[in-house]
Amino acid sequence: MWMDKRAGVALVLAGLVAACAAVAFAQPLVPSGVQDFYFRGSQPLTPGAPLPPPLEGEAEGLVEAGSCKLCHGNQGFEEQWPDSNSPYERWRYSMMAQAYRDPVFQAQLHIAEKDAVGSSDACLRCHAPVAWQSNRVAPPYDPADLFPTDTDGVSCSICHRSVDPDNKPGAPVPDLEILQALGSNRPVASGALGPAGKAASQGHLVIDPKDRRRGPFDLGPAFGYHQWEQSQWHRESGLCITCHDISNPVFSKQVDGSYTLNAPNQPHPTGNKYDMYPLDRLGSEWMASAFASGPVTQTIPGPGGTLVGRFGGVDRVSYASCQDCHMPTLVNTGCLPIFGQPIRQDYPQHNFQGGNTWVIRAVGDLFDPLDSNLDDYAGNLDVQGIDEAVERNKEMLRRASDLEVKVIGSRLRARIINESGHRLPGGFSEGTAMWVNVKFFGPGNTLVQERGAYNPATAELTRDSKVYEAKQGVDATMALLTGLPVGPSFHLDVNNKMFFDNRIPPRGFSNAGFAQVQAAPVGYVYADGQHWDDTLFDIPAGTVRAEVRVFYQTTTKEYIEWLRDNADKPANSTTYIKPPAGSSATTLGQVVHEQWVKWGRSTPVEMDVALTAARRCAADMAGPGQSLGADGELTADDIIVFLNFFFASGALADIAGPGQTTVPDGEFTADDIIVFLNGFFAGC
Ligand code: HEC
Ligand code: HEC
Ligand code: HEC
Ligand code: HEC
Ligand code: HEC
Repeated sequence: MWMDKRAGVALVLAGLVAACAAVAFAQPLVPSGVQDFYFRGSQPLTPGAPLPPPLEGEAEGLVEAGSCKLCHGNQGFEEQWPDSNSPYERWRYSMMAQAYRDPVFQAQLHIAEKDAVGSSDACLRCHAPVAWQSNRVAPPYDPADLFPTDTDGVSCSICHRSVDPDNKPGAPVPDLEILQALGSNRPVASGALGPAGKAASQGHLVIDPKDRRRGPFDLGPAFGYHQWEQSQWHRESGLCITCHDISNPVFSKQVDGSYTLNAPNQPHPTGNKYDMYPLDRLGSEWMASAFASGPVTQTIPGPGGTLVGRFGGVDRVSYASCQDCHMPTLVNTGCLPIFGQPIRQDYPQHNFQGGNTWVIRAVGDLFDPLDSNLDDYAGNLDVQGIDEAVERNKEMLRRASDLEVKVIGSRLRARIINESGHRLPGGFSEGTAMWVNVKFFGPGNTLVQERGAYNPATAELTRDSKVYEAKQGVDATMALLTGLPVGPSFHLDVNNKMFFDNRIPPRGFSNAGFAQVQAAPVGYVYADGQHWDDTLFDIPAGTVRAEVRVFYQTTTKEYIEWLRDNADKPANSTTYIKPPAGSSATTLGQVVHEQWVKWGRSTPVEMDVALTAARRCAADMAGPGQSLGADGELTADDIIVFLNFFFASGALADIAGPGQTTVPDGEFTADDIIVFLNGFFAGC
């Protein structure tokens, strides 16, 4: 039934597109219709029927977060529950609560629908799931059709009514019936799709049609505040991976590894995400990491700092699921203490802290907290809450990696170790960058050289250092079709090729495992097991010390300027995103760009810093067994190799000139020996 209705809409749309083309409107880049963006899982509620109001008590409606706030928020009870770490208060400052209001999303959504008709249906399925499930964003999508509470992004009811599509033993009793009732929309069992035995849900959200709220705890037979089911799935990553693997169903994977367009306006032929184009594989990266077969403890061999207490609360010694790191536990209650429920030792905080450190500020600015309409939903953000949320995300970034710096001969090695549960930087790759900044200083703190310099006034990054990033774009076939040049592009829904991906893999990485989930490194090599990366910098002459830093930027200048220039939807007092008072922006793209400038151009976050003595170390010339080449250690091997070269007049021993200057002069004299020994005994 649903398919019929939407097919009708698509036909109308296709007609409209043809009509628009005739009068020379901007053409979509690819032929598509809403059917291309069909995913299995729950479909919008009965088409044509009156829309069920999302009110408490209506069995089918997805109850809004503002109603959960009454018992799961602390408003009016700040003294009894002072830390405001209630589910509601933490969730509303997370990017998930703002997944629809997010102006970066809004801009990209507008461009996506221009590029590929019908694609907004896929976007809204994850970014405005309440509206989508309630059939209020069916194409042609009009933001005016949304209820204000629909704009609460990934809200409580979406996660807490979601059903494990794998129906593992111990799942809530109603689940099997719910899944069977989906018929051909039922998600395919994941074991057949992903690495065996690991959750591989498909972006296929299954929502309990009844308002049974699922969570990890047994609330007991006497619990009467609402319907509930105990659900182990809420402790598992599969819940999150439903949305945190993003696939474009317009493309099918070919045997040669390329991706080609499917016949227009038809569902993907297999519906298997691993046959679609992988826009984001964060969830699958986790599945192919040591965390999925974990838990991972601090005892894991290899480089890296301790994991004890790093992410999930002070006492946590091991990590496995997304929740372990993104919902740190606390001794607390999950509802107002007045209900007399037990204090939980493992109450999960709804932080969902990630890497985004500026968009929440833009949301706070664009949606007026004094607007009384906003009172009952999460657009109403106050400055203190925003500051705290940004600080949680910065702290997450600081904990995401460790930096080890070592002088090896005349070079400085910066090793960055990924401590997160997926690639670093992870997830949405458009415009996200992480880089190494090195400053070499001479005596008296004079700056000798800087690599990877960032100019905060222009947001320009000098690309003479290592930048970790992924670049997706269009291949030759898609270039021909779209008129875009072959190579990286930000048109995310027509991109069909990964051009470069050197983001650092997580613990347990294997090339085969990552290739299996369409996440292999591209244009860069990581050995199996390598969850770190090294960069070697030549130490300039005259250097005595170095400062090494690792930075993360949520949104780069290149990406935001592209949004500014391409999201040309008018922004005025009647549109969803309105230019704030004093703004001169007239388009959505300009509003987003203006916000980015206003909030510090997505100020890079310093993830790590290391200060180190750094001189070129000519005395380090050999490794174990007198193998040639610096190894960062000064041992008898170095002396033997030096002397061998010296007496054979080998160039390697020419390290000094007259007066013991450290300039090779083609002569083998006492100067060379003295400089070598000085260096050796000073440890360089
Ligand atoms: C009238 C008060 C009240 C309202 C309103 C309310 N809840 Fe609850 N809820 C509770 C209490 C009390 C608990 C028990 C908490 C505990 O024992 O830790 C609870 C527990 C839960 C649990 C835990 C279930 C489990 O098995 O682990 C979830 C999930 C939940 N509520 C979701 C919601 C959602 C979603 C909303 C809004 C749509 C909501 N609640 C609205 C009172 C309420
Ligand atoms: C061992 C801890 C750990 C585990 C397990 C983990 N994460 Fe993360 N995650 C992090 C850290 C640290 C960051 C911050 C670094 C970054 O942004 O890449 C992060 C970042 C993220 C981001 C933001 C990425 C960005 O920068 O845009 C998302 C989304 C995310 N994680 C989701 C998940 C999901 C979903 C899972 C489970 C499938 C998961 N994480 C498992 C530690 C973890
Ligand atoms: C992105 C998914 C997601 C969203 C959105 C979400 N939750 Fe949760 N919630 C979870 C998960 C997962 C757990 C269990 C985590 C664990 O135990 O490791 C949980 C646990 C809970 C619990 C159990 C805690 C207790 O002590 O009883 C309550 C209550 C709860 N959530 C309420 C809410 C409310 C209210 C909202 C909205 C304001 C909300 N949740 C939004 C995923 C979500
Ligand atoms: C219904 C789909 C959905 C589910 C289920 C879901 N997420 Fe998300 N999540 C999103 C979307 C959409 C965003 C992007 C919001 C934005 O930036 O506009 C997001 C953002 C995030 C971020 C912030 C990323 C950043 O850049 O800072 C984290 C962290 C995260 N999710 C973790 C989780 C975890 C952990 C779970 C499981 C408990 C989960 N998500 C379940 C859709 C979902
Ligand atoms: C399967 C669920 C899913 C679908 C479909 C989806 N997204 Fe997302 N989107 C996410 C998640 C999850 C994140 C957060 C990823 C992260 O930060 O790692 C995200 C992040 C984003 C961001 C980054 C926001 C920011 O503030 O940095 C943009 C922009 C975006 N999505 C646009 C779109 C558009 C446009 C579409 C449709 C063409 C779309 N998404 C389809 C789940 C989805």
